Amino acid sequence: MSLKIIGTGMALPEKRVSNEDLSAFLDTSDQWIIEKTGIKNRFICTKESLTDLAETAGRTALEKAGLKPSDLDLILCSTISGDYTTPSLACCVSQRLSATCPALDLNAACSGFIYALDAAAAYLNSEKAKNILIISAEMMSKHIDWNDRATCVLFGDGAGACVVTKGTALRYINLTADGEIRPLHLKTGTGNNPFRKINEAQEPFVMEGQEVFKFAVQSIEKEVARALDTLALTAKDIDYFLIHQANQRILDSARIRMKQPDNKFPANIHQTGNISSASIPILLDEMLSEGKIKTGDTLLLTAFGAGLTTGTCVMIWE
Ligand code: ACO
Repeated sequence: MSLKIIGTGMALPEKRVSNEDLSAFLDTSDQWIIEKTGIKNRFICTKESLTDLAETAGRTALEKAGLKPSDLDLILCSTISGDYTTPSLACCVSQRLSATCPALDLNAACSGFIYALDAAAAYLNSEKAKNILIISAEMMSKHIDWNDRATCVLFGDGAGACVVTKGTALRYINLTADGEIRPLHLKTGTGNNPFRKINEAQEPFVMEGQEVFKFAVQSIEKEVARALDTLALTAKDIDYFLIHQANQRILDSARIRMKQPDNKFPANIHQTGNISSASIPILLDEMLSEGKIKTGDTLLLTAFGAGLTTGTCVMIWE
């Protein structure tokens, strides 16, 4: 493997929305949301564009890496909510940074950050790139139905970024996709095509909560076991499990099954909600800023989402 992370960054919108704020217009309560999800607050874009958040996160990651935009060979964004379908979010960020390298988006829903790491590793391995900026940025607030209380209380907006270059930190990476659409999807419309019999409008995000919950718990168990078996490690050898921040109960269930202490399962979901693919890189940036991750620590990152996709990797921090 050929990758290490040399700088990280994050950005959240200015507007913090509490459970009480939601209760003002939705038949819900702070108690229900906390008990079922662990979420207390989330940040929602009221004036920022997704490009604004992605640019801030990307610039911070570049600064921490000690690189300039002209040093980049690729900008890779994971998102399901770019400001434009085309150009890509990566191209919008490229314009802001005055970068000249190739730029593209990938969509693996909440697993997007791990998918982007895998793609970046392939670019580095093939020597097509030396320095890559990865940005995972999401504005789920524009896709959810704000009248659907079982879905809208879960999500927040934000961006997490990292700069990767050649290194030996990445020891394992595995991606899956089973093509199951129904439990989690966001359907696009067909426009006003005069040749179609029936045109369909864009629909809000659909989530079958209990089915997704089961998939999440099972996939974490399966993919963590696969990673540990492959590397001949046990859960005790992992310093931190960075799990997609979808629901505190999902994180707790993984921790209990693995019989590991609470402090190995960092969480920020209570303050940010579920930010889809941005949740893991934001958590990573927070942990690094707080000095929690040290050289030599073993991190296991795992995410799951629409597709149904999963992405899991193990890094020994360099
Ligand atoms: N406030 C109050 N009551 C609510 C709310 C709410 N916000 N939402 C639902 N309810 C009610 C329901 O109407 C239902 O009432 P009823 O019994 O009278 O019909 C009751 O609460 C129970 O509803 P369930 O949907 O059965 O609740 P559940 O225990 O499944 O919790 C939840 C719902 C929190 C969504 C849970 O299923 C979950 O977290 N699933 C996983 C979601 C997830 O991980 N998503 C992330 C993947 S998607 C991605 O990351 C892009």
